[in-house]
Amino acid sequence: MKRDSFSSRMGVLAAAAGSAIGLGNIWRFTYLMGDNGGAAFFIIYLASVILIGLPIMIAEFTIGRNTQKNPIGAFRSLVPKSAWPLTGWLGIIAAFSVLSFYGVVGGWTLYYLVRSISQSFLQFSPDQYATIFTNYIENPLIPILTQLIFMGLTFAIVVRGIQSGIEKYSKLLMPLLFLIVILIDIVALTMPGASEGLAFIFKPDWSKVDMNVIVMAVGQAFFSLSLGMGTMLTYASYIGKQQDLKKTALQVTVADTLVAVLAGVAIFPAVFSFNIDPTSGPGLVFITLPAVFGKMPFGQIVGPAFFLLLAIAALTSAISILEVLVAYFGEELKWGRKKATIISTVLLTLIGMIASLSNGIWNNDAFFGMNFMDFLGAFSSNYCLPIGGFFIAVFVGWRMKPEWSNQELLIGAKSARGNKLILWLLRTLVPAAIIVVFLSGIGVIG
Ligand code: TRP
Repeated sequence: MKRDSFSSRMGVLAAAAGSAIGLGNIWRFTYLMGDNGGAAFFIIYLASVILIGLPIMIAEFTIGRNTQKNPIGAFRSLVPKSAWPLTGWLGIIAAFSVLSFYGVVGGWTLYYLVRSISQSFLQFSPDQYATIFTNYIENPLIPILTQLIFMGLTFAIVVRGIQSGIEKYSKLLMPLLFLIVILIDIVALTMPGASEGLAFIFKPDWSKVDMNVIVMAVGQAFFSLSLGMGTMLTYASYIGKQQDLKKTALQVTVADTLVAVLAGVAIFPAVFSFNIDPTSGPGLVFITLPAVFGKMPFGQIVGPAFFLLLAIAALTSAISILEVLVAYFGEELKWGRKKATIISTVLLTLIGMIASLSNGIWNNDAFFGMNFMDFLGAFSSNYCLPIGGFFIAVFVGWRMKPEWSNQELLIGAKSARGNKLILWLLRTLVPAAIIVVFLSGIGVIG
């Protein structure tokens, strides 16, 4: 059977940027920035993206395109009879734990999209929005219903394959996403008090920075760039030999960072303009923002547009995670795409339902002091992704010969510029930084 692949350079870019740009950029990035000192967090995040994220993305691209396999098959074919395929396994576990809770939050975005369309939704007080949000996520039925719809959409795209599914819908949805975020930015910037919000994003307050902020920033770089799980590796396995991997990785990274900044510009000026506390955690987007939309000019349009933006971003990321599992089941267990997609989606949805219920009737702190949903998020971002990223870096940096990566990076590229630096980062700074961050994240140092 001929392996599916992306048909064009635009297709690769749209799909990979679609994977990177997600809830991580809008929902997670803005609340982390709100909680962790604004611009100071952003600068540390930026450094992590450039020095750690970008080299790992290039490493994932190199492994994926070279082997044209799923994460486990890729390691198995490069170094047979070794423990390296465990890195791929870690990615499979991460894919399960990220997408199961991601699907729940994806459902939240659809719920808010629909509710924000109705005129009356924008008339509540901030306290009432908090109650609406809590009542909704604690409900045993409605969030599961919205999760099912979101996972259904994810399924419907992935089951169509790479070219007529993932590539086609990414090319359709990503330009729309950029358009929406820019339109919201224009409205946000014309609000009184916008400059205070901009200062929050761009003027660093270093007093809030400690080791914990650094750990969060590095974790966010992994999450936002879709790294450490084999997502980018899997997508790269469908990239043709005429494409420049370094250039693609750079463009995806720039696009992802740009959308995070644009999301910050859409959110913080409005938040400050109405004197709302930016440090409201995960509820920022679902509780604080509706109150803001109610008061801003064109709120009736900006509100639904924002939640549509969020839903699109979530969907093009969810499909990339599902594809990791589908590629694995399809190639390693020799299942057809349809069977692989159905079984993965059903499993993910079931785990996600448990996560959703853990916000309400099954809420307890049984998972290291967290409920199941928060545990899935913390377990994947703080453990699976950095550990996965560590082994991917060490693999390309140390296990494979420098000529191997150099050669793959040269295919489709104009020059070898930067190859040495990338390899050097993968050998030294990247693994060292991940170890330090990881150990301080689990409380061993710092
Ligand atoms: N990057 C996406 C976001 O920002 C989420 C995502 C997609 C992801 N694939 C991933 C996160 C792989 C971690 C690993 O929302």
